[in-house]
Amino acid sequence: MESLLKKIEEYKQEILGFAVTDEKQAEEFRIRFLGTKGLVKAIMGEMKNVAPEQKKEAGQLLNEFKQFAEGRYEELKAALGSSASSASAGIDLSLPGDPLPLGSRHPVVLMKNKIVSIFQRLGFAVAEGPEIEDDWHNFGALNLPEHHPARDMQDTFYVQQNPDWVLRTHTSNVQIREMEKGKLPIRMVMPGRVYRNETISARSHCFFHQVEGLYIDENVSFADLKQTLYFFVKEMYGADVKVRFRPSYFPFTEPSAEMDVSCFICGGSGCNICKKTGWVEILGCGMVHPNVLQNCHIDPAKYTGFAFGMGIERPAMLKYGINDIRLFSENDLRFLKQFTSAI
Ligand code: DAH
Repeated sequence: MESLLKKIEEYKQEILGFAVTDEKQAEEFRIRFLGTKGLVKAIMGEMKNVAPEQKKEAGQLLNEFKQFAEGRYEELKAALGSSASSASAGIDLSLPGDPLPLGSRHPVVLMKNKIVSIFQRLGFAVAEGPEIEDDWHNFGALNLPEHHPARDMQDTFYVQQNPDWVLRTHTSNVQIREMEKGKLPIRMVMPGRVYRNETISARSHCFFHQVEGLYIDENVSFADLKQTLYFFVKEMYGADVKVRFRPSYFPFTEPSAEMDVSCFICGGSGCNICKKTGWVEILGCGMVHPNVLQNCHIDPAKYTGFAFGMGIERPAMLKYGINDIRLFSENDLRFLKQFTSAI
C-alpha cells in the first residue's frame, strides 16, 4: 500500500509536468498513461499485492488516479483545440446547431406595413407624429373649435397635468403637423396609435391604430381621391371586392365620405362583424376643408387636397378572420404565433 501511494504521487507529478504542444505529444501522453500498456493499467495491476483489508481504499485511490489521468488528457487535447478531443468528449461538431426560436411580427404591424407599402407605390411618403397632443393639433386646427359638438364624436382622454393636452384621438393631428411645415405638395401616409375612452368589447378598444392619408397640391379633386382609394382596396382585398362610398360628415373635410367594402368574414351575407349588413366601413375621407388649409397657412384658392383615415385593426380582422379586437393586445402567444409570414 505504501509503495502504491508513492507511485501514484510520482505519476501525478509527472502528469502535471507533462506539457503538450502538438497532437503527437498528446498521443505520447495517451500511450504512456492511458494506453493498454500504459502506467494506469500497470498500476491497476498492483491491486493484487494489496492486503485484503486495504483493498477497498486502494481501489478508490486507483480509480481517482485513473480519472485524474483521463481528465488531464482531455484538458490537454482541448487546449490544443483539436476536434478529436471534442468528439471524444461526446460533442459532434458536424451536427446542426440548436434552432433559435423565431419571433413573428404582430398582425397590426403586418397590416400597417401592407397598407403603407400600397400607398408608397403611389408615391406617398411616410410621416409620424406625437401620441400626446395639444388641443390645437388634435382638434382646433382640424376645424373643431372649442365647444364644437363634433368633439363628442370621439371620447377623449385628457392629460391631468396639462388641461391643454390629450391622448390623440386620431392620426389627423399629423396632417396638421405636416401642413404646418409649409412644404408643398404633400403626399403622405401617417400610421400610428390612437386613444379613445371607449368601453372595451369584441368590436372596440380604448386604443387602436390608424393610418392617415393626405394629398395636397394644385388641382387635386374628389376623382383623385376615389381612384387612389379604389387602387388601395383592389391591392388590399383583391379585384373582386365590392366598394361603396357613403356621404358622411367630418369637420375637417368637405365634402366627406365613408368607404365600405363587402364583408370578408361572411362574404356579404351578414355576420356580427358587419352587423348583419354585408358591408364593413373601413375608412373616412373627403376634400380637406378650406378652414383647415388656412389654419396651416396654405392658400385654399391655390391648393386643394384630399385626406383619409382608416383603422388598422378592422382590416386586419377582415384579412385574418379575427372576430375579437381584444386579441390584439392580450399578448397570447398562441394567437401571436399564427402570424409568422408577411401578408
Ligand atoms: N379622423 C377620423 C377618425 O378618426 C378619420 C378620418 C376621416 C380622417 C376623414 C381623415 C378624413 O383624414 O378625411 O374617425
